[in-house]
Amino acid sequence: MAAVEFIKDLCTPALVIDLDTVKRNAEGMQERFHTEASFYADNGYDDILYAYPLPFDKVERCAELSERLSLFHVVVDNRLALQELKKRPLKQGKVWKVWMKLDCDNGRAGVPHCDPAALQLAQEISETSGVELTGIYAHCGNTYACQGEEQIKAAAGIQGTKSSIGSTPSCSHPVPDMAMLSEVHPGNYVFYDVQQSLIGSCRLEDVAVRVLTRVIGHYPARNQLLVDCGWTALSHDGGGALTYRICHHRRTPRTQEHGRVEPISGKLDFKQFPLGSLLTLMPYHACATAMMHPVYFVHSKGKIIDTWKPTRGW
Ligand SMILES: Cc1ncc(COP(=O)(O)O)c(C=O)c1O
Repeated sequence: MAAVEFIKDLCTPALVIDLDTVKRNAEGMQERFHTEASFYADNGYDDILYAYPLPFDKVERCAELSERLSLFHVVVDNRLALQELKKRPLKQGKVWKVWMKLDCDNGRAGVPHCDPAALQLAQEISETSGVELTGIYAHCGNTYACQGEEQIKAAAGIQGTKSSIGSTPSCSHPVPDMAMLSEVHPGNYVFYDVQQSLIGSCRLEDVAVRVLTRVIGHYPARNQLLVDCGWTALSHDGGGALTYRICHHRRTPRTQEHGRVEPISGKLDFKQFPLGSLLTLMPYHACATAMMHPVYFVHSKGKIIDTWKPTRGW
């Protein structure tokens, strides 16, 4: 394929990233990278948190990274995982750096924060030789059930000394108590998406990622356009996408490589969308959508300035 200069000339579907918006979103937020640990370790990062409850098949890889890097941290939420760490003492006089994962009511991973087992596990970690309890980690994903800044701030209140939370909603509207945290781990905020705008973490204009698609059919009887973009370009996560040029239109349930676009109400003006015209879709969940693409086209004001290849796995 000849080098393409502008995103408007890309073959569709294509994932495009507005670098100016990404930079604006990233200003003021600093995070330590987590997951895809080997990729970051191989590319010069030496302070990494593997922010996933320790999978037993990866203990050896985590041990090697702990021995190789200045700092490599693992997350534990049960005693068996602690036993696995004990069975693999680190060489070179190093100790396992462990964050205990707490579930602060979002019901995903972690020991429930009000369960006495949390305190017992924390004690056991700190009393185990070769292992150091570095801190307490919560994703704070309960903020995803919030609507608006006030609810996000109420959900994100924390107490304690050495602790860390993730989640884009809570880090987008930090409460003063969060100054007590040693670090935060939001991930989505660089791109943001429709879901984050509905929660109240961002405005639609903060969303840096789009999927480009072209109109490939007119179906007046159904009041729908057909576009060359199905779930393989957007993912099935969440409620579809919004079109950028025509926010009052939405994508309806989609198939693997085809998508249908219809107005939320009223008759579609097909003249506005000739066959071959380009639509710009704003994803509902940018993380899931980005995972569907082998390459991201990075642009500034429509001019392509870079391509990024995502690393995969966790
Ligand atoms: C443990 C952990 N920390 C941080 C994050 C980033 O949070 P967010 O996706 O809300 O930015 C995630 C995402 O799932 C996570 O699992």
